[in-house]
Amino acid sequence: MAKIGILGFGSYLPSRIMTNDDWAVLLDTDDEWITSRSGIKERRIAAADESTVDLAAAAAEKALADAGITAADLDEIIVATDTPEVYFPDTASYLQHRLGAGEVTAFDLGGSGCAGFVLALDVAKARVHAVSKKVLVVGVEIATRIMNWSDRATAVLFGDAAGAVVIGAGDGVKAELLTFDSGTDGRYADILTLETGGTRRPFSLDEAQRGGHREFTMNGREVFRQAVKRMSAAAENVLDRAGRLKDEIALVIPHQANLRIIDAVRNKLGLGEEQVYVNVDRYGNTGSATVPVAMAEAHQEGRIKPGDLVVLTAFGAGFHWSAAALQF
Ligand code: UT7
Repeated sequence: MAKIGILGFGSYLPSRIMTNDDWAVLLDTDDEWITSRSGIKERRIAAADESTVDLAAAAAEKALADAGITAADLDEIIVATDTPEVYFPDTASYLQHRLGAGEVTAFDLGGSGCAGFVLALDVAKARVHAVSKKVLVVGVEIATRIMNWSDRATAVLFGDAAGAVVIGAGDGVKAELLTFDSGTDGRYADILTLETGGTRRPFSLDEAQRGGHREFTMNGREVFRQAVKRMSAAAENVLDRAGRLKDEIALVIPHQANLRIIDAVRNKLGLGEEQVYVNVDRYGNTGSATVPVAMAEAHQEGRIKPGDLVVLTAFGAGFHWSAAALQF
């Protein structure tokens, strides 16, 4: 069986930058609090005329060009997002049409929060193994459009972005997908949730009037604890499954939620600062887009070289986690 892996990388960041000082004008917060608690200095905000499919298409087109193929060559499209274009159908339908892809299998992997992209890679590898030759995988989020802009405890943490890869097999593979560890602990489903709009709490005038449609509930401390525990364990599991050692890791690309979470995972894994990629300072938490954006940047900046062993590790609402070992 030919190697299955990444053929091309792409990312897209909206041009509007919002700094911590910009937030301090709107809310009772400051650069010192946001920087010391999260490591975030600035984030991108999608323009009013941009929606999820615009960001997804921009990142996807770059990944297709990097892979040296066109949308017509795709056999499947998977979009990982919790901030879809519309309630239904899925963003993948809009993206298939926008890109001019054929009448291929296309679906969203929604609801798994920031773990969505790595989980989608896990699915894509299996699909290439079984049926599809080339799968486009996108992680995209416009969190700033669903979050509560008056809640300082959550609003300052998020930003908008999209990242994409093309997965395939054979000679063009730039990074082989070696092993995965994806899992779920639904006991923690309520520590990070947006309830309104589902069947438990449907949209209504009352809900809208009390701001329920933007009631983003987060138990920050519990999310922090679970994130560190699961991201470090999943990273160790993918190494074990690949028969590789921590010493062999060239770079870990973790979900970029918070610099303190990243540092805690790095310490648990016993890695140096240069072995872990960080861009949360520039973009904040962009949900399922953080890993593909960071991977595209690290690749472009020459932080990853041929022969490198790279580990992706992410966590998200659910509580889900997903990690992958990649051989560049
Ligand atoms: O993809 C998943 C997304 N979520 C996460 O990754 C979140 C994980 N959790 C965290 O990163 C941290 O728990 C936070 C950054 C959210 C919070 O840090 P913390 O050290 O756990 O702070 P805290 O929640 O204990 O809040 C401390 C204080 C509170 O004031 P009092 O009650 O002690 O007087 C908050 O009201 O900080 C206050 N606070 C703020 N102050 C200034 C909360 N948000 C802000 C703010 N600016 N933006």
